[in-house]
Amino acid sequence: MSREKIQILFSRAQSLQQKPESQDYRGQTAALLFFEPSTRTRFSFESACYRSGLGPLVLDSSDGTSLEKGESFEDTILNIAAMGPSVIVSRAPNELDLFKISKQVNVPIINAGWGIKGHPTQALLDSFTLWQEFKDLVGFKILFVGDIRHSRVVSSHFELLETLGAEVGLSGPEDFLVDRPGVNLFKRLDEGLEWCDAVMCLRVQFERHNSKDGFSKEDYTLDFGLNRRRLSHLRPNAVIMHPGPINFGIEMDADVMNDSRHRVFRQVANGVLVREALIRLLLEGRL
Ligand code: CP
Repeated sequence: MSREKIQILFSRAQSLQQKPESQDYRGQTAALLFFEPSTRTRFSFESACYRSGLGPLVLDSSDGTSLEKGESFEDTILNIAAMGPSVIVSRAPNELDLFKISKQVNVPIINAGWGIKGHPTQALLDSFTLWQEFKDLVGFKILFVGDIRHSRVVSSHFELLETLGAEVGLSGPEDFLVDRPGVNLFKRLDEGLEWCDAVMCLRVQFERHNSKDGFSKEDYTLDFGLNRRRLSHLRPNAVIMHPGPINFGIEMDADVMNDSRHRVFRQVANGVLVREALIRLLLEGRL
């Protein structure tokens, strides 16, 4: 998305917060296909559908579907697309080729989390949360902490924050980092916290790790866990974020949620607005 389109999306999400719009799409449906688990993304897309009048058709596991009989994700999407939903929302593993499928159907497909490749609506709602508070993000400094290598959220932020002109910092164990030109690396988390305007802790994605990785929760928490002591390095007007779900006691102490700088639930609330704005703009043909 271009900077201009992102601006249109953010303005529409802001407007939806101030004044809900009518349920313009009554009688139409949206297929929400979640082939991987989700709470925030699925419920926020469902909320967005209800708010815009779309009837959500939800597949939230293979249970009771023909996936259990061996039908592929791809065939499942093609068959559901044939039923004529106005939009498809897909959370899928890396193996599914969303680009290929999007050429085979004439319905917009929204990526709601794709393996480790990307989670664009999460990056958009995170940036919207920052935009609401700080407006211009040019030169804004965001630090991502932790399991960057497995994070689809960070993959999408790399693209989005470049478009918005923000600076990116990374901090985490060497095995979790990625090599990317132009990013600031912080071996010591405290230094990164002093540098940034916003810190985003990331979930350690145990399900995507190789059991031979030799990961130690104790070492990780000691070096990269966000806690009250570490928060003293963060400037007073900086904000604390996490896309969720949170492994409390690993990447973040539960006590961090008592800090007035956290925006975790605002991110979740904004997820509904940004996703509703996205669906409406797509159906209006404005994206
Ligand atoms: N942030 C996020 O994608 O959360 P869920 O996996 O619960 O949807």
